[in-house]
Amino acid sequence: MPTERTLSIIKPDATRRNLTGKVNAVLEAAGLRIVAQKRLHLTTAQAEAFYAVHAARPFYRDLVTFMTSGPVVAQVLEGDNAVQRNRDVMGATNPAQAAEGTIRKLFAENIEANSVHGSDSAENAAAEIAFFFAGTDIVG
Ligand code: CMP
Repeated sequence: MPTERTLSIIKPDATRRNLTGKVNAVLEAAGLRIVAQKRLHLTTAQAEAFYAVHAARPFYRDLVTFMTSGPVVAQVLEGDNAVQRNRDVMGATNPAQAAEGTIRKLFAENIEANSVHGSDSAENAAAEIAFFFAGTDIVG
C-alpha cells in the first residue's frame, strides 16, 4: 500500500465541543500520522472556494454558513492508503448511517455538522492540502 497524504478538517461543531483531541486520538489509533495542523476561522470566501464543487447543491449556502460559524482545525494526515483509511475512520457523511467506532458515529451531530471532512481522492487531496498548507508546513 502506498504512503499517501490526505486533507482533514475538524469542523466547527467539533471544535465548539472541545473535541479536537478526541478526534485526533481516533485518527492516530487508525494509523494516521498528523504531519501538519492549524486552527483557523474560515472566511466566507475561503469556505465558498473550498466547497466550490458543491456550489450548485441545495445545501451549499448552509454549509458555508456552518463552516464559518467557528474555528476549524485543518490537518494533513499521512499513512498507508491515507485517503481511504481516513474515509473509513470518518464514517458515512450522514452520522445516522455511520458505522460504530467511526468519528461521525461517535461525535457528529447531523449530516451537515458532521465533525470532520476528508479528501475523497488522491488528486483532490493534493489540491485540498495546497489550499491550506505550504510544503514547508508539512513535517513527516
Ligand atoms: P463533507 O465531507 O465536508 O463534504 C460536503 C459537506 O456538505 C458534507 O461533509 C456535509 O458537512 C455537508 N452536507 C450538508 N448536507 C449534505 C447532504 N445532503 N449531502 C452531502 N453533504 C451534505
